[in-house]
Amino acid sequence: MEPLAPLRDVPLADTHQVCAGLRTRPLETLCYLRDTFGDAVRLAVGAQSWVLLSHPEAMKEVLLRQRESFIKPPLLALARELMGDGLVTAEDRVHRDIRPLLNQAFQRTALSAHVARMQPMISEAVGTLRDGEEIDLSLFLRRLTLSVIGAILFGIDFERAFVDERDALLHHAAIATMCLRPFQPQIEDLSAFRQAKQCLDQTVDALIEHGRSAGCGDNLLAQMVMLGVEDSACPLARPKQLHDEVITLLLAGHETTAHALEWTWWWLSREADVRTAFHQEIDQIRAGDLEGAFCDLLEQGVTYTKRVLWESMRLRPPVWIMGRQVGLKPVSVLGVTLEPGTAVALSQWLNNHDGQTYPGPDRFDPNRFRDPQGFTPPPPLLPFGTGPRRCIGDRLSTAESLAILVLTGRLCAFDLLNGDEVAADAGFTLKPLPNLYARVRLR
Ligand code: HEM
Repeated sequence: MEPLAPLRDVPLADTHQVCAGLRTRPLETLCYLRDTFGDAVRLAVGAQSWVLLSHPEAMKEVLLRQRESFIKPPLLALARELMGDGLVTAEDRVHRDIRPLLNQAFQRTALSAHVARMQPMISEAVGTLRDGEEIDLSLFLRRLTLSVIGAILFGIDFERAFVDERDALLHHAAIATMCLRPFQPQIEDLSAFRQAKQCLDQTVDALIEHGRSAGCGDNLLAQMVMLGVEDSACPLARPKQLHDEVITLLLAGHETTAHALEWTWWWLSREADVRTAFHQEIDQIRAGDLEGAFCDLLEQGVTYTKRVLWESMRLRPPVWIMGRQVGLKPVSVLGVTLEPGTAVALSQWLNNHDGQTYPGPDRFDPNRFRDPQGFTPPPPLLPFGTGPRRCIGDRLSTAESLAILVLTGRLCAFDLLNGDEVAADAGFTLKPLPNLYARVRLR
């Protein structure tokens, strides 16, 4: 790959045309920018100067090797309207204080207990499906992933005690995120956004209040409340910070995983050989292996199912774009000098569709990942980012996706009713549009 040029030589894309394209057809526009201008191109979005870096090494360079030179970018200003200063959007100073407090709940050591907790929930949800029934598969998965995250992190029983709150969260989160599209200078339909945000805030506050009054449970919410009570200097002692962390984890923790699963079933419905191999692998699991050490089975086994999940996340990455902003000093990234304040866009979509890294990039081929190990994506795939701001829920999400694929796939298959109509909608996350509808086929 040729070294990149200093910034002054980086071409400036036709701003008006490109900005319109980024808003209306972002994935195609990103590909156009890379194909037309190469590994680096400048964009002026409003008053902000952006550089899109599509060199395959750029993501590691910015997020990991030269991370000290970057801060979270204006791309996230709109997300901050929704999630406040929770972990995803927090500035590095706040982040340094908070992330260690939350890490424990996401360690490998906590994972077996989380998987044991989610297993009966998943089986129960799948047990409600009837042969021949037509369902909104997207909604089924979004409800399930929200219920799982609510239960294991916050001790909330969304399936029974808080059904209305669960559906209110899903409904208002969908409206709010629809109003937040990357590369958009402001929130679309401000009054719809404000109304949805207000409902989300009220629901989250009610759930926190319930958690407080329920007293000391064995979950992250109880731990966060306790940390704030024991130490008034702890950031979590501030109700707003606690609120922002809870809303962040609820939203970031369910939607992305649901989309990963929606896309995986979409691919399974299109690729008959892959579907057969997937069912063969999970049919071979003995019933006894689903008990006790289920987490170990997911971590060490189901390698074909893992390949399918990773290939689906390669072609349809739930997080398709990320950004950073150059801090106080200029920095040189792969030969490009970036001035302070420059915003940098990095795209999983572009990385994952790069023909040099993945020959035949548009082909769905799970076997391109030879022997996926554990819960970590095989390099160079970076669906969860990298560096200190890497996704805190990466292993949890992977374990959950595998658990849902295994437990659902053993009992039923889904015949999609609208697979051909579905497109990738690149908004806040990359979701299928419209929702997936399916006929259930019990096996
Ligand atoms: C398929 C599922 C998921 C994907 C693709 C995904 C993707 C990502 C990515 C790419 C980042 C890094 C963003 C950046 O560097 O700017 C991130 C951060 C984050 N994710 Fe996830 N995520 C997933 C699931 C989850 C789950 C299950 C949770 C929580 C339960 C979660 C919580 C977070 C949080 C809190 C951050 C911010 C971390 C920090 O800055 O320290 N995510 N995620």
